[in-house]
Amino acid sequence: MILLGVNIDHCATVRQARYRGYNQTAPGPVEPDPVALAVLAERAGADGITIHLREDRRHIQEHDVWRLKEVAKTRINLEMACTSAMVEFALKVKPNSVCVVPESREEISTEGGLDVVARRGHVKACIDAMNAAGIITSLFIDPDAEQIDLSAELGAPWIELHTGAWANAWHTPRRDAEFVRLREGALRARAAGLVVNAGHGINYDNVADIRTLPHVHELNIGHTIISRALSTGIEEAVREMKRRMNA
Ligand code: PXP
Repeated sequence: MILLGVNIDHCATVRQARYRGYNQTAPGPVEPDPVALAVLAERAGADGITIHLREDRRHIQEHDVWRLKEVAKTRINLEMACTSAMVEFALKVKPNSVCVVPESREEISTEGGLDVVARRGHVKACIDAMNAAGIITSLFIDPDAEQIDLSAELGAPWIELHTGAWANAWHTPRRDAEFVRLREGALRARAAGLVVNAGHGINYDNVADIRTLPHVHELNIGHTIISRALSTGIEEAVREMKRRMNA
């Protein structure tokens, strides 16, 4: 049974489109509320909630993370950049896990995996701090042997394989080759003792393939679920994804 982590960032994207810099004098509710959405997603069977506090605070705000911490009944997976400010924040909030991602201000959402090789020292410091606090670290990496091996060597208990290159290749001749990379990456990671998650660009159609990847523990899915929720409501959107993931 593959678990589902629902990424609620894009609910906050919609909120910020209207209420960035909101002050209390604005009439009516500040909507949509990503935390209320998370509660409904959990009720529909989400196994965890993923939330990305970005350096530029473009969607999720710190108060969202604190409110989620108060009400979440499943697990909170905090996506974050590998910076000392974010490590400090995570140690205060104490989510169940952190997923370390690369961040650049120009990207619309996370693009490319974390370069563990280039950022070895920072990544190791983050893993050690989280291990000491009882927080699981997951490294969001491309399915490259070097990145996988070093993730294990540095003591990360989990990785999340970046499925974006494969998802983007869906309508191209590269699709099968990208899937083979993911498959080999999952096998290699598992053999190195890592728990293997996957995410980015997974949708209601391509999940039929991704669920056949070996050893996948959890999928982190955001955009397609939030999009579907606009027409069906979040609960049906989550239930349908869970059905397809474990069909
Ligand atoms: N996993 C990670 C590490 C992410 O950064 C994101 C969002 O970019 C996702 C999963 C979810 O991706 P999507 O919104 O395409 O489902």
